[in-house]
Amino acid sequence: MNFHVMTLFPEMIMHCLSSSITGRARDKGYISFDAVNIRDFSNDYKHHKVDDYTYGGGAGMLMQAQPIYDCYKSISEKIGTEKPRVIYVTPQGSVFNQKMASEFAKEDDLIFLCGHYEGVDERVLEEIVTDYVSIGDYVLTGGELPAMVMIDAISRLVPGVLNNDESALTESFYNNLLEYPQYSRPEEWMGKKVPAILLSGDHKKVDEWRLEQSIIRTKERRPDLYEKWLIENPPKPEKKKRRKKKKVEEQLISDNIATDDINENKEEDK
Ligand code: ADE
Repeated sequence: MNFHVMTLFPEMIMHCLSSSITGRARDKGYISFDAVNIRDFSNDYKHHKVDDYTYGGGAGMLMQAQPIYDCYKSISEKIGTEKPRVIYVTPQGSVFNQKMASEFAKEDDLIFLCGHYEGVDERVLEEIVTDYVSIGDYVLTGGELPAMVMIDAISRLVPGVLNNDESALTESFYNNLLEYPQYSRPEEWMGKKVPAILLSGDHKKVDEWRLEQSIIRTKERRPDLYEKWLIENPPKPEKKKRRKKKKVEEQLISDNIATDDINENKEEDK
């Protein structure tokens, strides 16, 4: 999977993604990332200007269409695709989530456009952008951090990027449940004991406990996710057989009472 980032701050992207797991994945060849400086495509050879005033007035500068378009063209030619997937990171986009991460992870190449200043000339966005994506309802100073957040989340879904130990930690969000609480040594710390069930060695019970804890935690911390989980996992209706058995039991109980009543009545008749 190849990430291409159109940015005014390529060193920020390269420095951050070269660290930790994404850096290791790049070194091993599972992913690649290339931060391309939009300024290198400016037609202003003297000052490498990429922004200008907004038509109609208003504070701040706008990123111009031409350098971004030429940067995009250069990347698409390199990839060899005419209409590559281009994500414009903007607070005006759909909010990024795990499902989107899995969908993006299916692509061979993804281009990110990082905005700055007051935004980007609308015409180039119309021309090249396929997805408008935000990382949350707050405004950052630029698109680099959101792009890196998305690249990180997408990378860890690319086969080979995580080793087995790390993949074991990936379950949160897959079925709309948060991760259960986890504990390591020592068994007791500051008077707090590790829940006894986790020391029992009974894997079935441990799994049941973890699921229960995930449900409790999700309900408390993310009621919105819990609602989604409930829709996908509605409470199971009571089994018919059991209901039948219950009915028979109820019948037996009432029969017994009736029999007792009859016997009592017989006694009284004597
Ligand atoms: N650029 C500035 N703020 C942003 C956000 N919240 N998400 C994506 N891109 C942004």
